[in-house]
Amino acid sequence: MRLDRLIANLGYGSRREVQTWCRQGYITDRAGQALRHDASVEPAEVLFDGEELDPIAPLGLMLHKPVGYTCSNKDIGRLVNELLPERFRHRTPTMSSVGRLDRETSGLLLFTDDGALLHRIISPRSRIAKVYEVELADPLRGDEGEVFASGTLMLEGEDTPLAPAGFEALGERRARLVLHEGRYHQVRRMFGAMGNRVVALHRSHVGGLELGDLAAGQWRRLSSEDLLQLFAGA
Ligand code: URA
Repeated sequence: MRLDRLIANLGYGSRREVQTWCRQGYITDRAGQALRHDASVEPAEVLFDGEELDPIAPLGLMLHKPVGYTCSNKDIGRLVNELLPERFRHRTPTMSSVGRLDRETSGLLLFTDDGALLHRIISPRSRIAKVYEVELADPLRGDEGEVFASGTLMLEGEDTPLAPAGFEALGERRARLVLHEGRYHQVRRMFGAMGNRVVALHRSHVGGLELGDLAAGQWRRLSSEDLLQLFAGA
């Protein structure tokens, strides 16, 4: 691939900037030899200021989204993208989050530039489970498991009932919920329909992929094993 296009597509800068950096000797091969902007290169052979380049597409990431960050630039507040390197916002193809979490929800949020992967994860037909840990304002009633598993619960303003969801009580005011769909504010509205209120919400898993010990605000690349985990059991 031509060097200036490669580096511009990775979001480091415009092709004109790449030309300047090449002239200044910032972009080299592994032997430290400056490269011309129009050189035909293998991405793995290129160093930018002595560092390996970011991976080319397709790229997948997982982020531990902290409370207080929003997934949509239509909402007020800091954007989750601010937790990723600035140049990721300028990559071609574009990176986007795989679905959304509310500003007040924390936990596992995926990003990818691979449209087919994104579709496969969010498509209801894939039946990828999303696991949420919920803290509630009031004690559980006791019939939540039955109601959520029934496949008949209708949320306000909707015309199709929710698909059956898994439920496990973890304490008087704590529960784990397993969803196979993703409707707007679904978890909060489900507990709202039971006369309760969610005070803290955290997503721990998407499919078989878990957040693990990734600290809030931290991200890492998805490996091919992570992708296998993600689809395991779906
Ligand atoms: N359900 C919600 O209510 N909020 C989220 O962020 C995710 C699922």
